[in-house]
Amino acid sequence: MFFKKKNYVVGLDIGTSYVKMVQLKDVKEGGYELGFYDMMPLLPGTIAEGNITDKAQLTSVIRELMKKTGCKSADAVIGVSGHSSVIIKRITIPTMTEEELTNSIRYEAEQYIPFDIDDVNIDFQIIGPKQDEEGQMDVVLVAAKKNVITDYAEAAEEAGLNVILADVDSFALSNMYEFNYDTTAKRIVALINVGATNSIINILQDGLPVFTRDSAIGSGHHTDMLEEELSISKEDAERLKLGRAVDGVDPEQAQTIITNASEDIYGEISRSFDYFRSSVGFEEINGIILGGGAAVLKGFPEMMAERLGIEVELADPFKGLKIPDTLNKDFLKEMGPMAAVAVGLALRREDDK
Ligand SMILES: Nc1ncnc2c1ncn2[C@@H]1O[C@H](COP(=O)(O)OP(=O)(O)OP(=O)(O)O)[C@@H](O)[C@H]1O
Ligand SMILES: [Mg+2]
Repeated sequence: MFFKKKNYVVGLDIGTSYVKMVQLKDVKEGGYELGFYDMMPLLPGTIAEGNITDKAQLTSVIRELMKKTGCKSADAVIGVSGHSSVIIKRITIPTMTEEELTNSIRYEAEQYIPFDIDDVNIDFQIIGPKQDEEGQMDVVLVAAKKNVITDYAEAAEEAGLNVILADVDSFALSNMYEFNYDTTAKRIVALINVGATNSIINILQDGLPVFTRDSAIGSGHHTDMLEEELSISKEDAERLKLGRAVDGVDPEQAQTIITNASEDIYGEISRSFDYFRSSVGFEEINGIILGGGAAVLKGFPEMMAERLGIEVELADPFKGLKIPDTLNKDFLKEMGPMAAVAVGLALRREDDK
């Protein structure tokens, strides 16, 4: 297999507020070694609701990030997330093999997708037999607008990367989990990635996905609330989130606003959990694995555990990787949860499917 010989793959996670880049190298004895992980912020207005609004700006940030990491041209897997351009739906269809579904997925998808079927790329994950309904199975269906994927791919290619695949953030998150964690344990785990404008919730039972949802809320809500209530700039709001001082702002007041914004995010997650519990019929979620920018926001995971009454563990996407001594271990530990999607992308190989 030609692809396997190219043993450097970059996972490029282009978020609304940060671009994250991870490089994984195949190791001869099996598994992967982390080549690098780094990130750079995007100027507000570069990406809006999942669409690129300033491609030149995005390309230049990716290029800078490549320079920072020392990445020469490389094969890359890019991610696309929720918003209006990607639709993720759980559907029930007659039981068939993966191959049969590959052939009929466009037909099946047509009834569930509000876009012209010719304008989207379709992907799916078979979940398994539908409970209490013989001959039926559950499938997670993904439809991503081709023009949006092309836009992201072009920005990455113009920066010098060779885009070999595009994947959906929520699949990448599951991928990261499957690779790094023990999925054989009998338990129900919620994988949650809280980004800037989007939160992904994937619930797995005994390692298999049973529920997935994208919510249009993220840590950008903290920023918006700080801006609004303190009449400050976005930049100052971001500074406060990182625990830095801003002239004329009482840190305690800022913390109260951050806490209130966090409550809104927990509320949204809690509603998704309620929906999961009522629709799927399992009761207990045994633990949460939390990634994304909010996971590195001070106090956010602890308060989440308290509010939801569920243990929260920070995602460690590097857990199952070889880490060379030359990399900064403190940075990897501190900012690791933000790499959850990027690692999942870099783990994707063409012959997975
Ligand atoms: N220490 C930190 N460093 C960077 N970002 C942080 C930190 N703490 C909190 N954040 C916040 O996390 C968010 C960025 O997280 P992330 O990179 O996961 O989002 P994104 O991928 O850009 O957004 P989305 O997936 O919603 O499009 C920003 O809102 C940022 O302010
Ligand atoms: Mg993201």
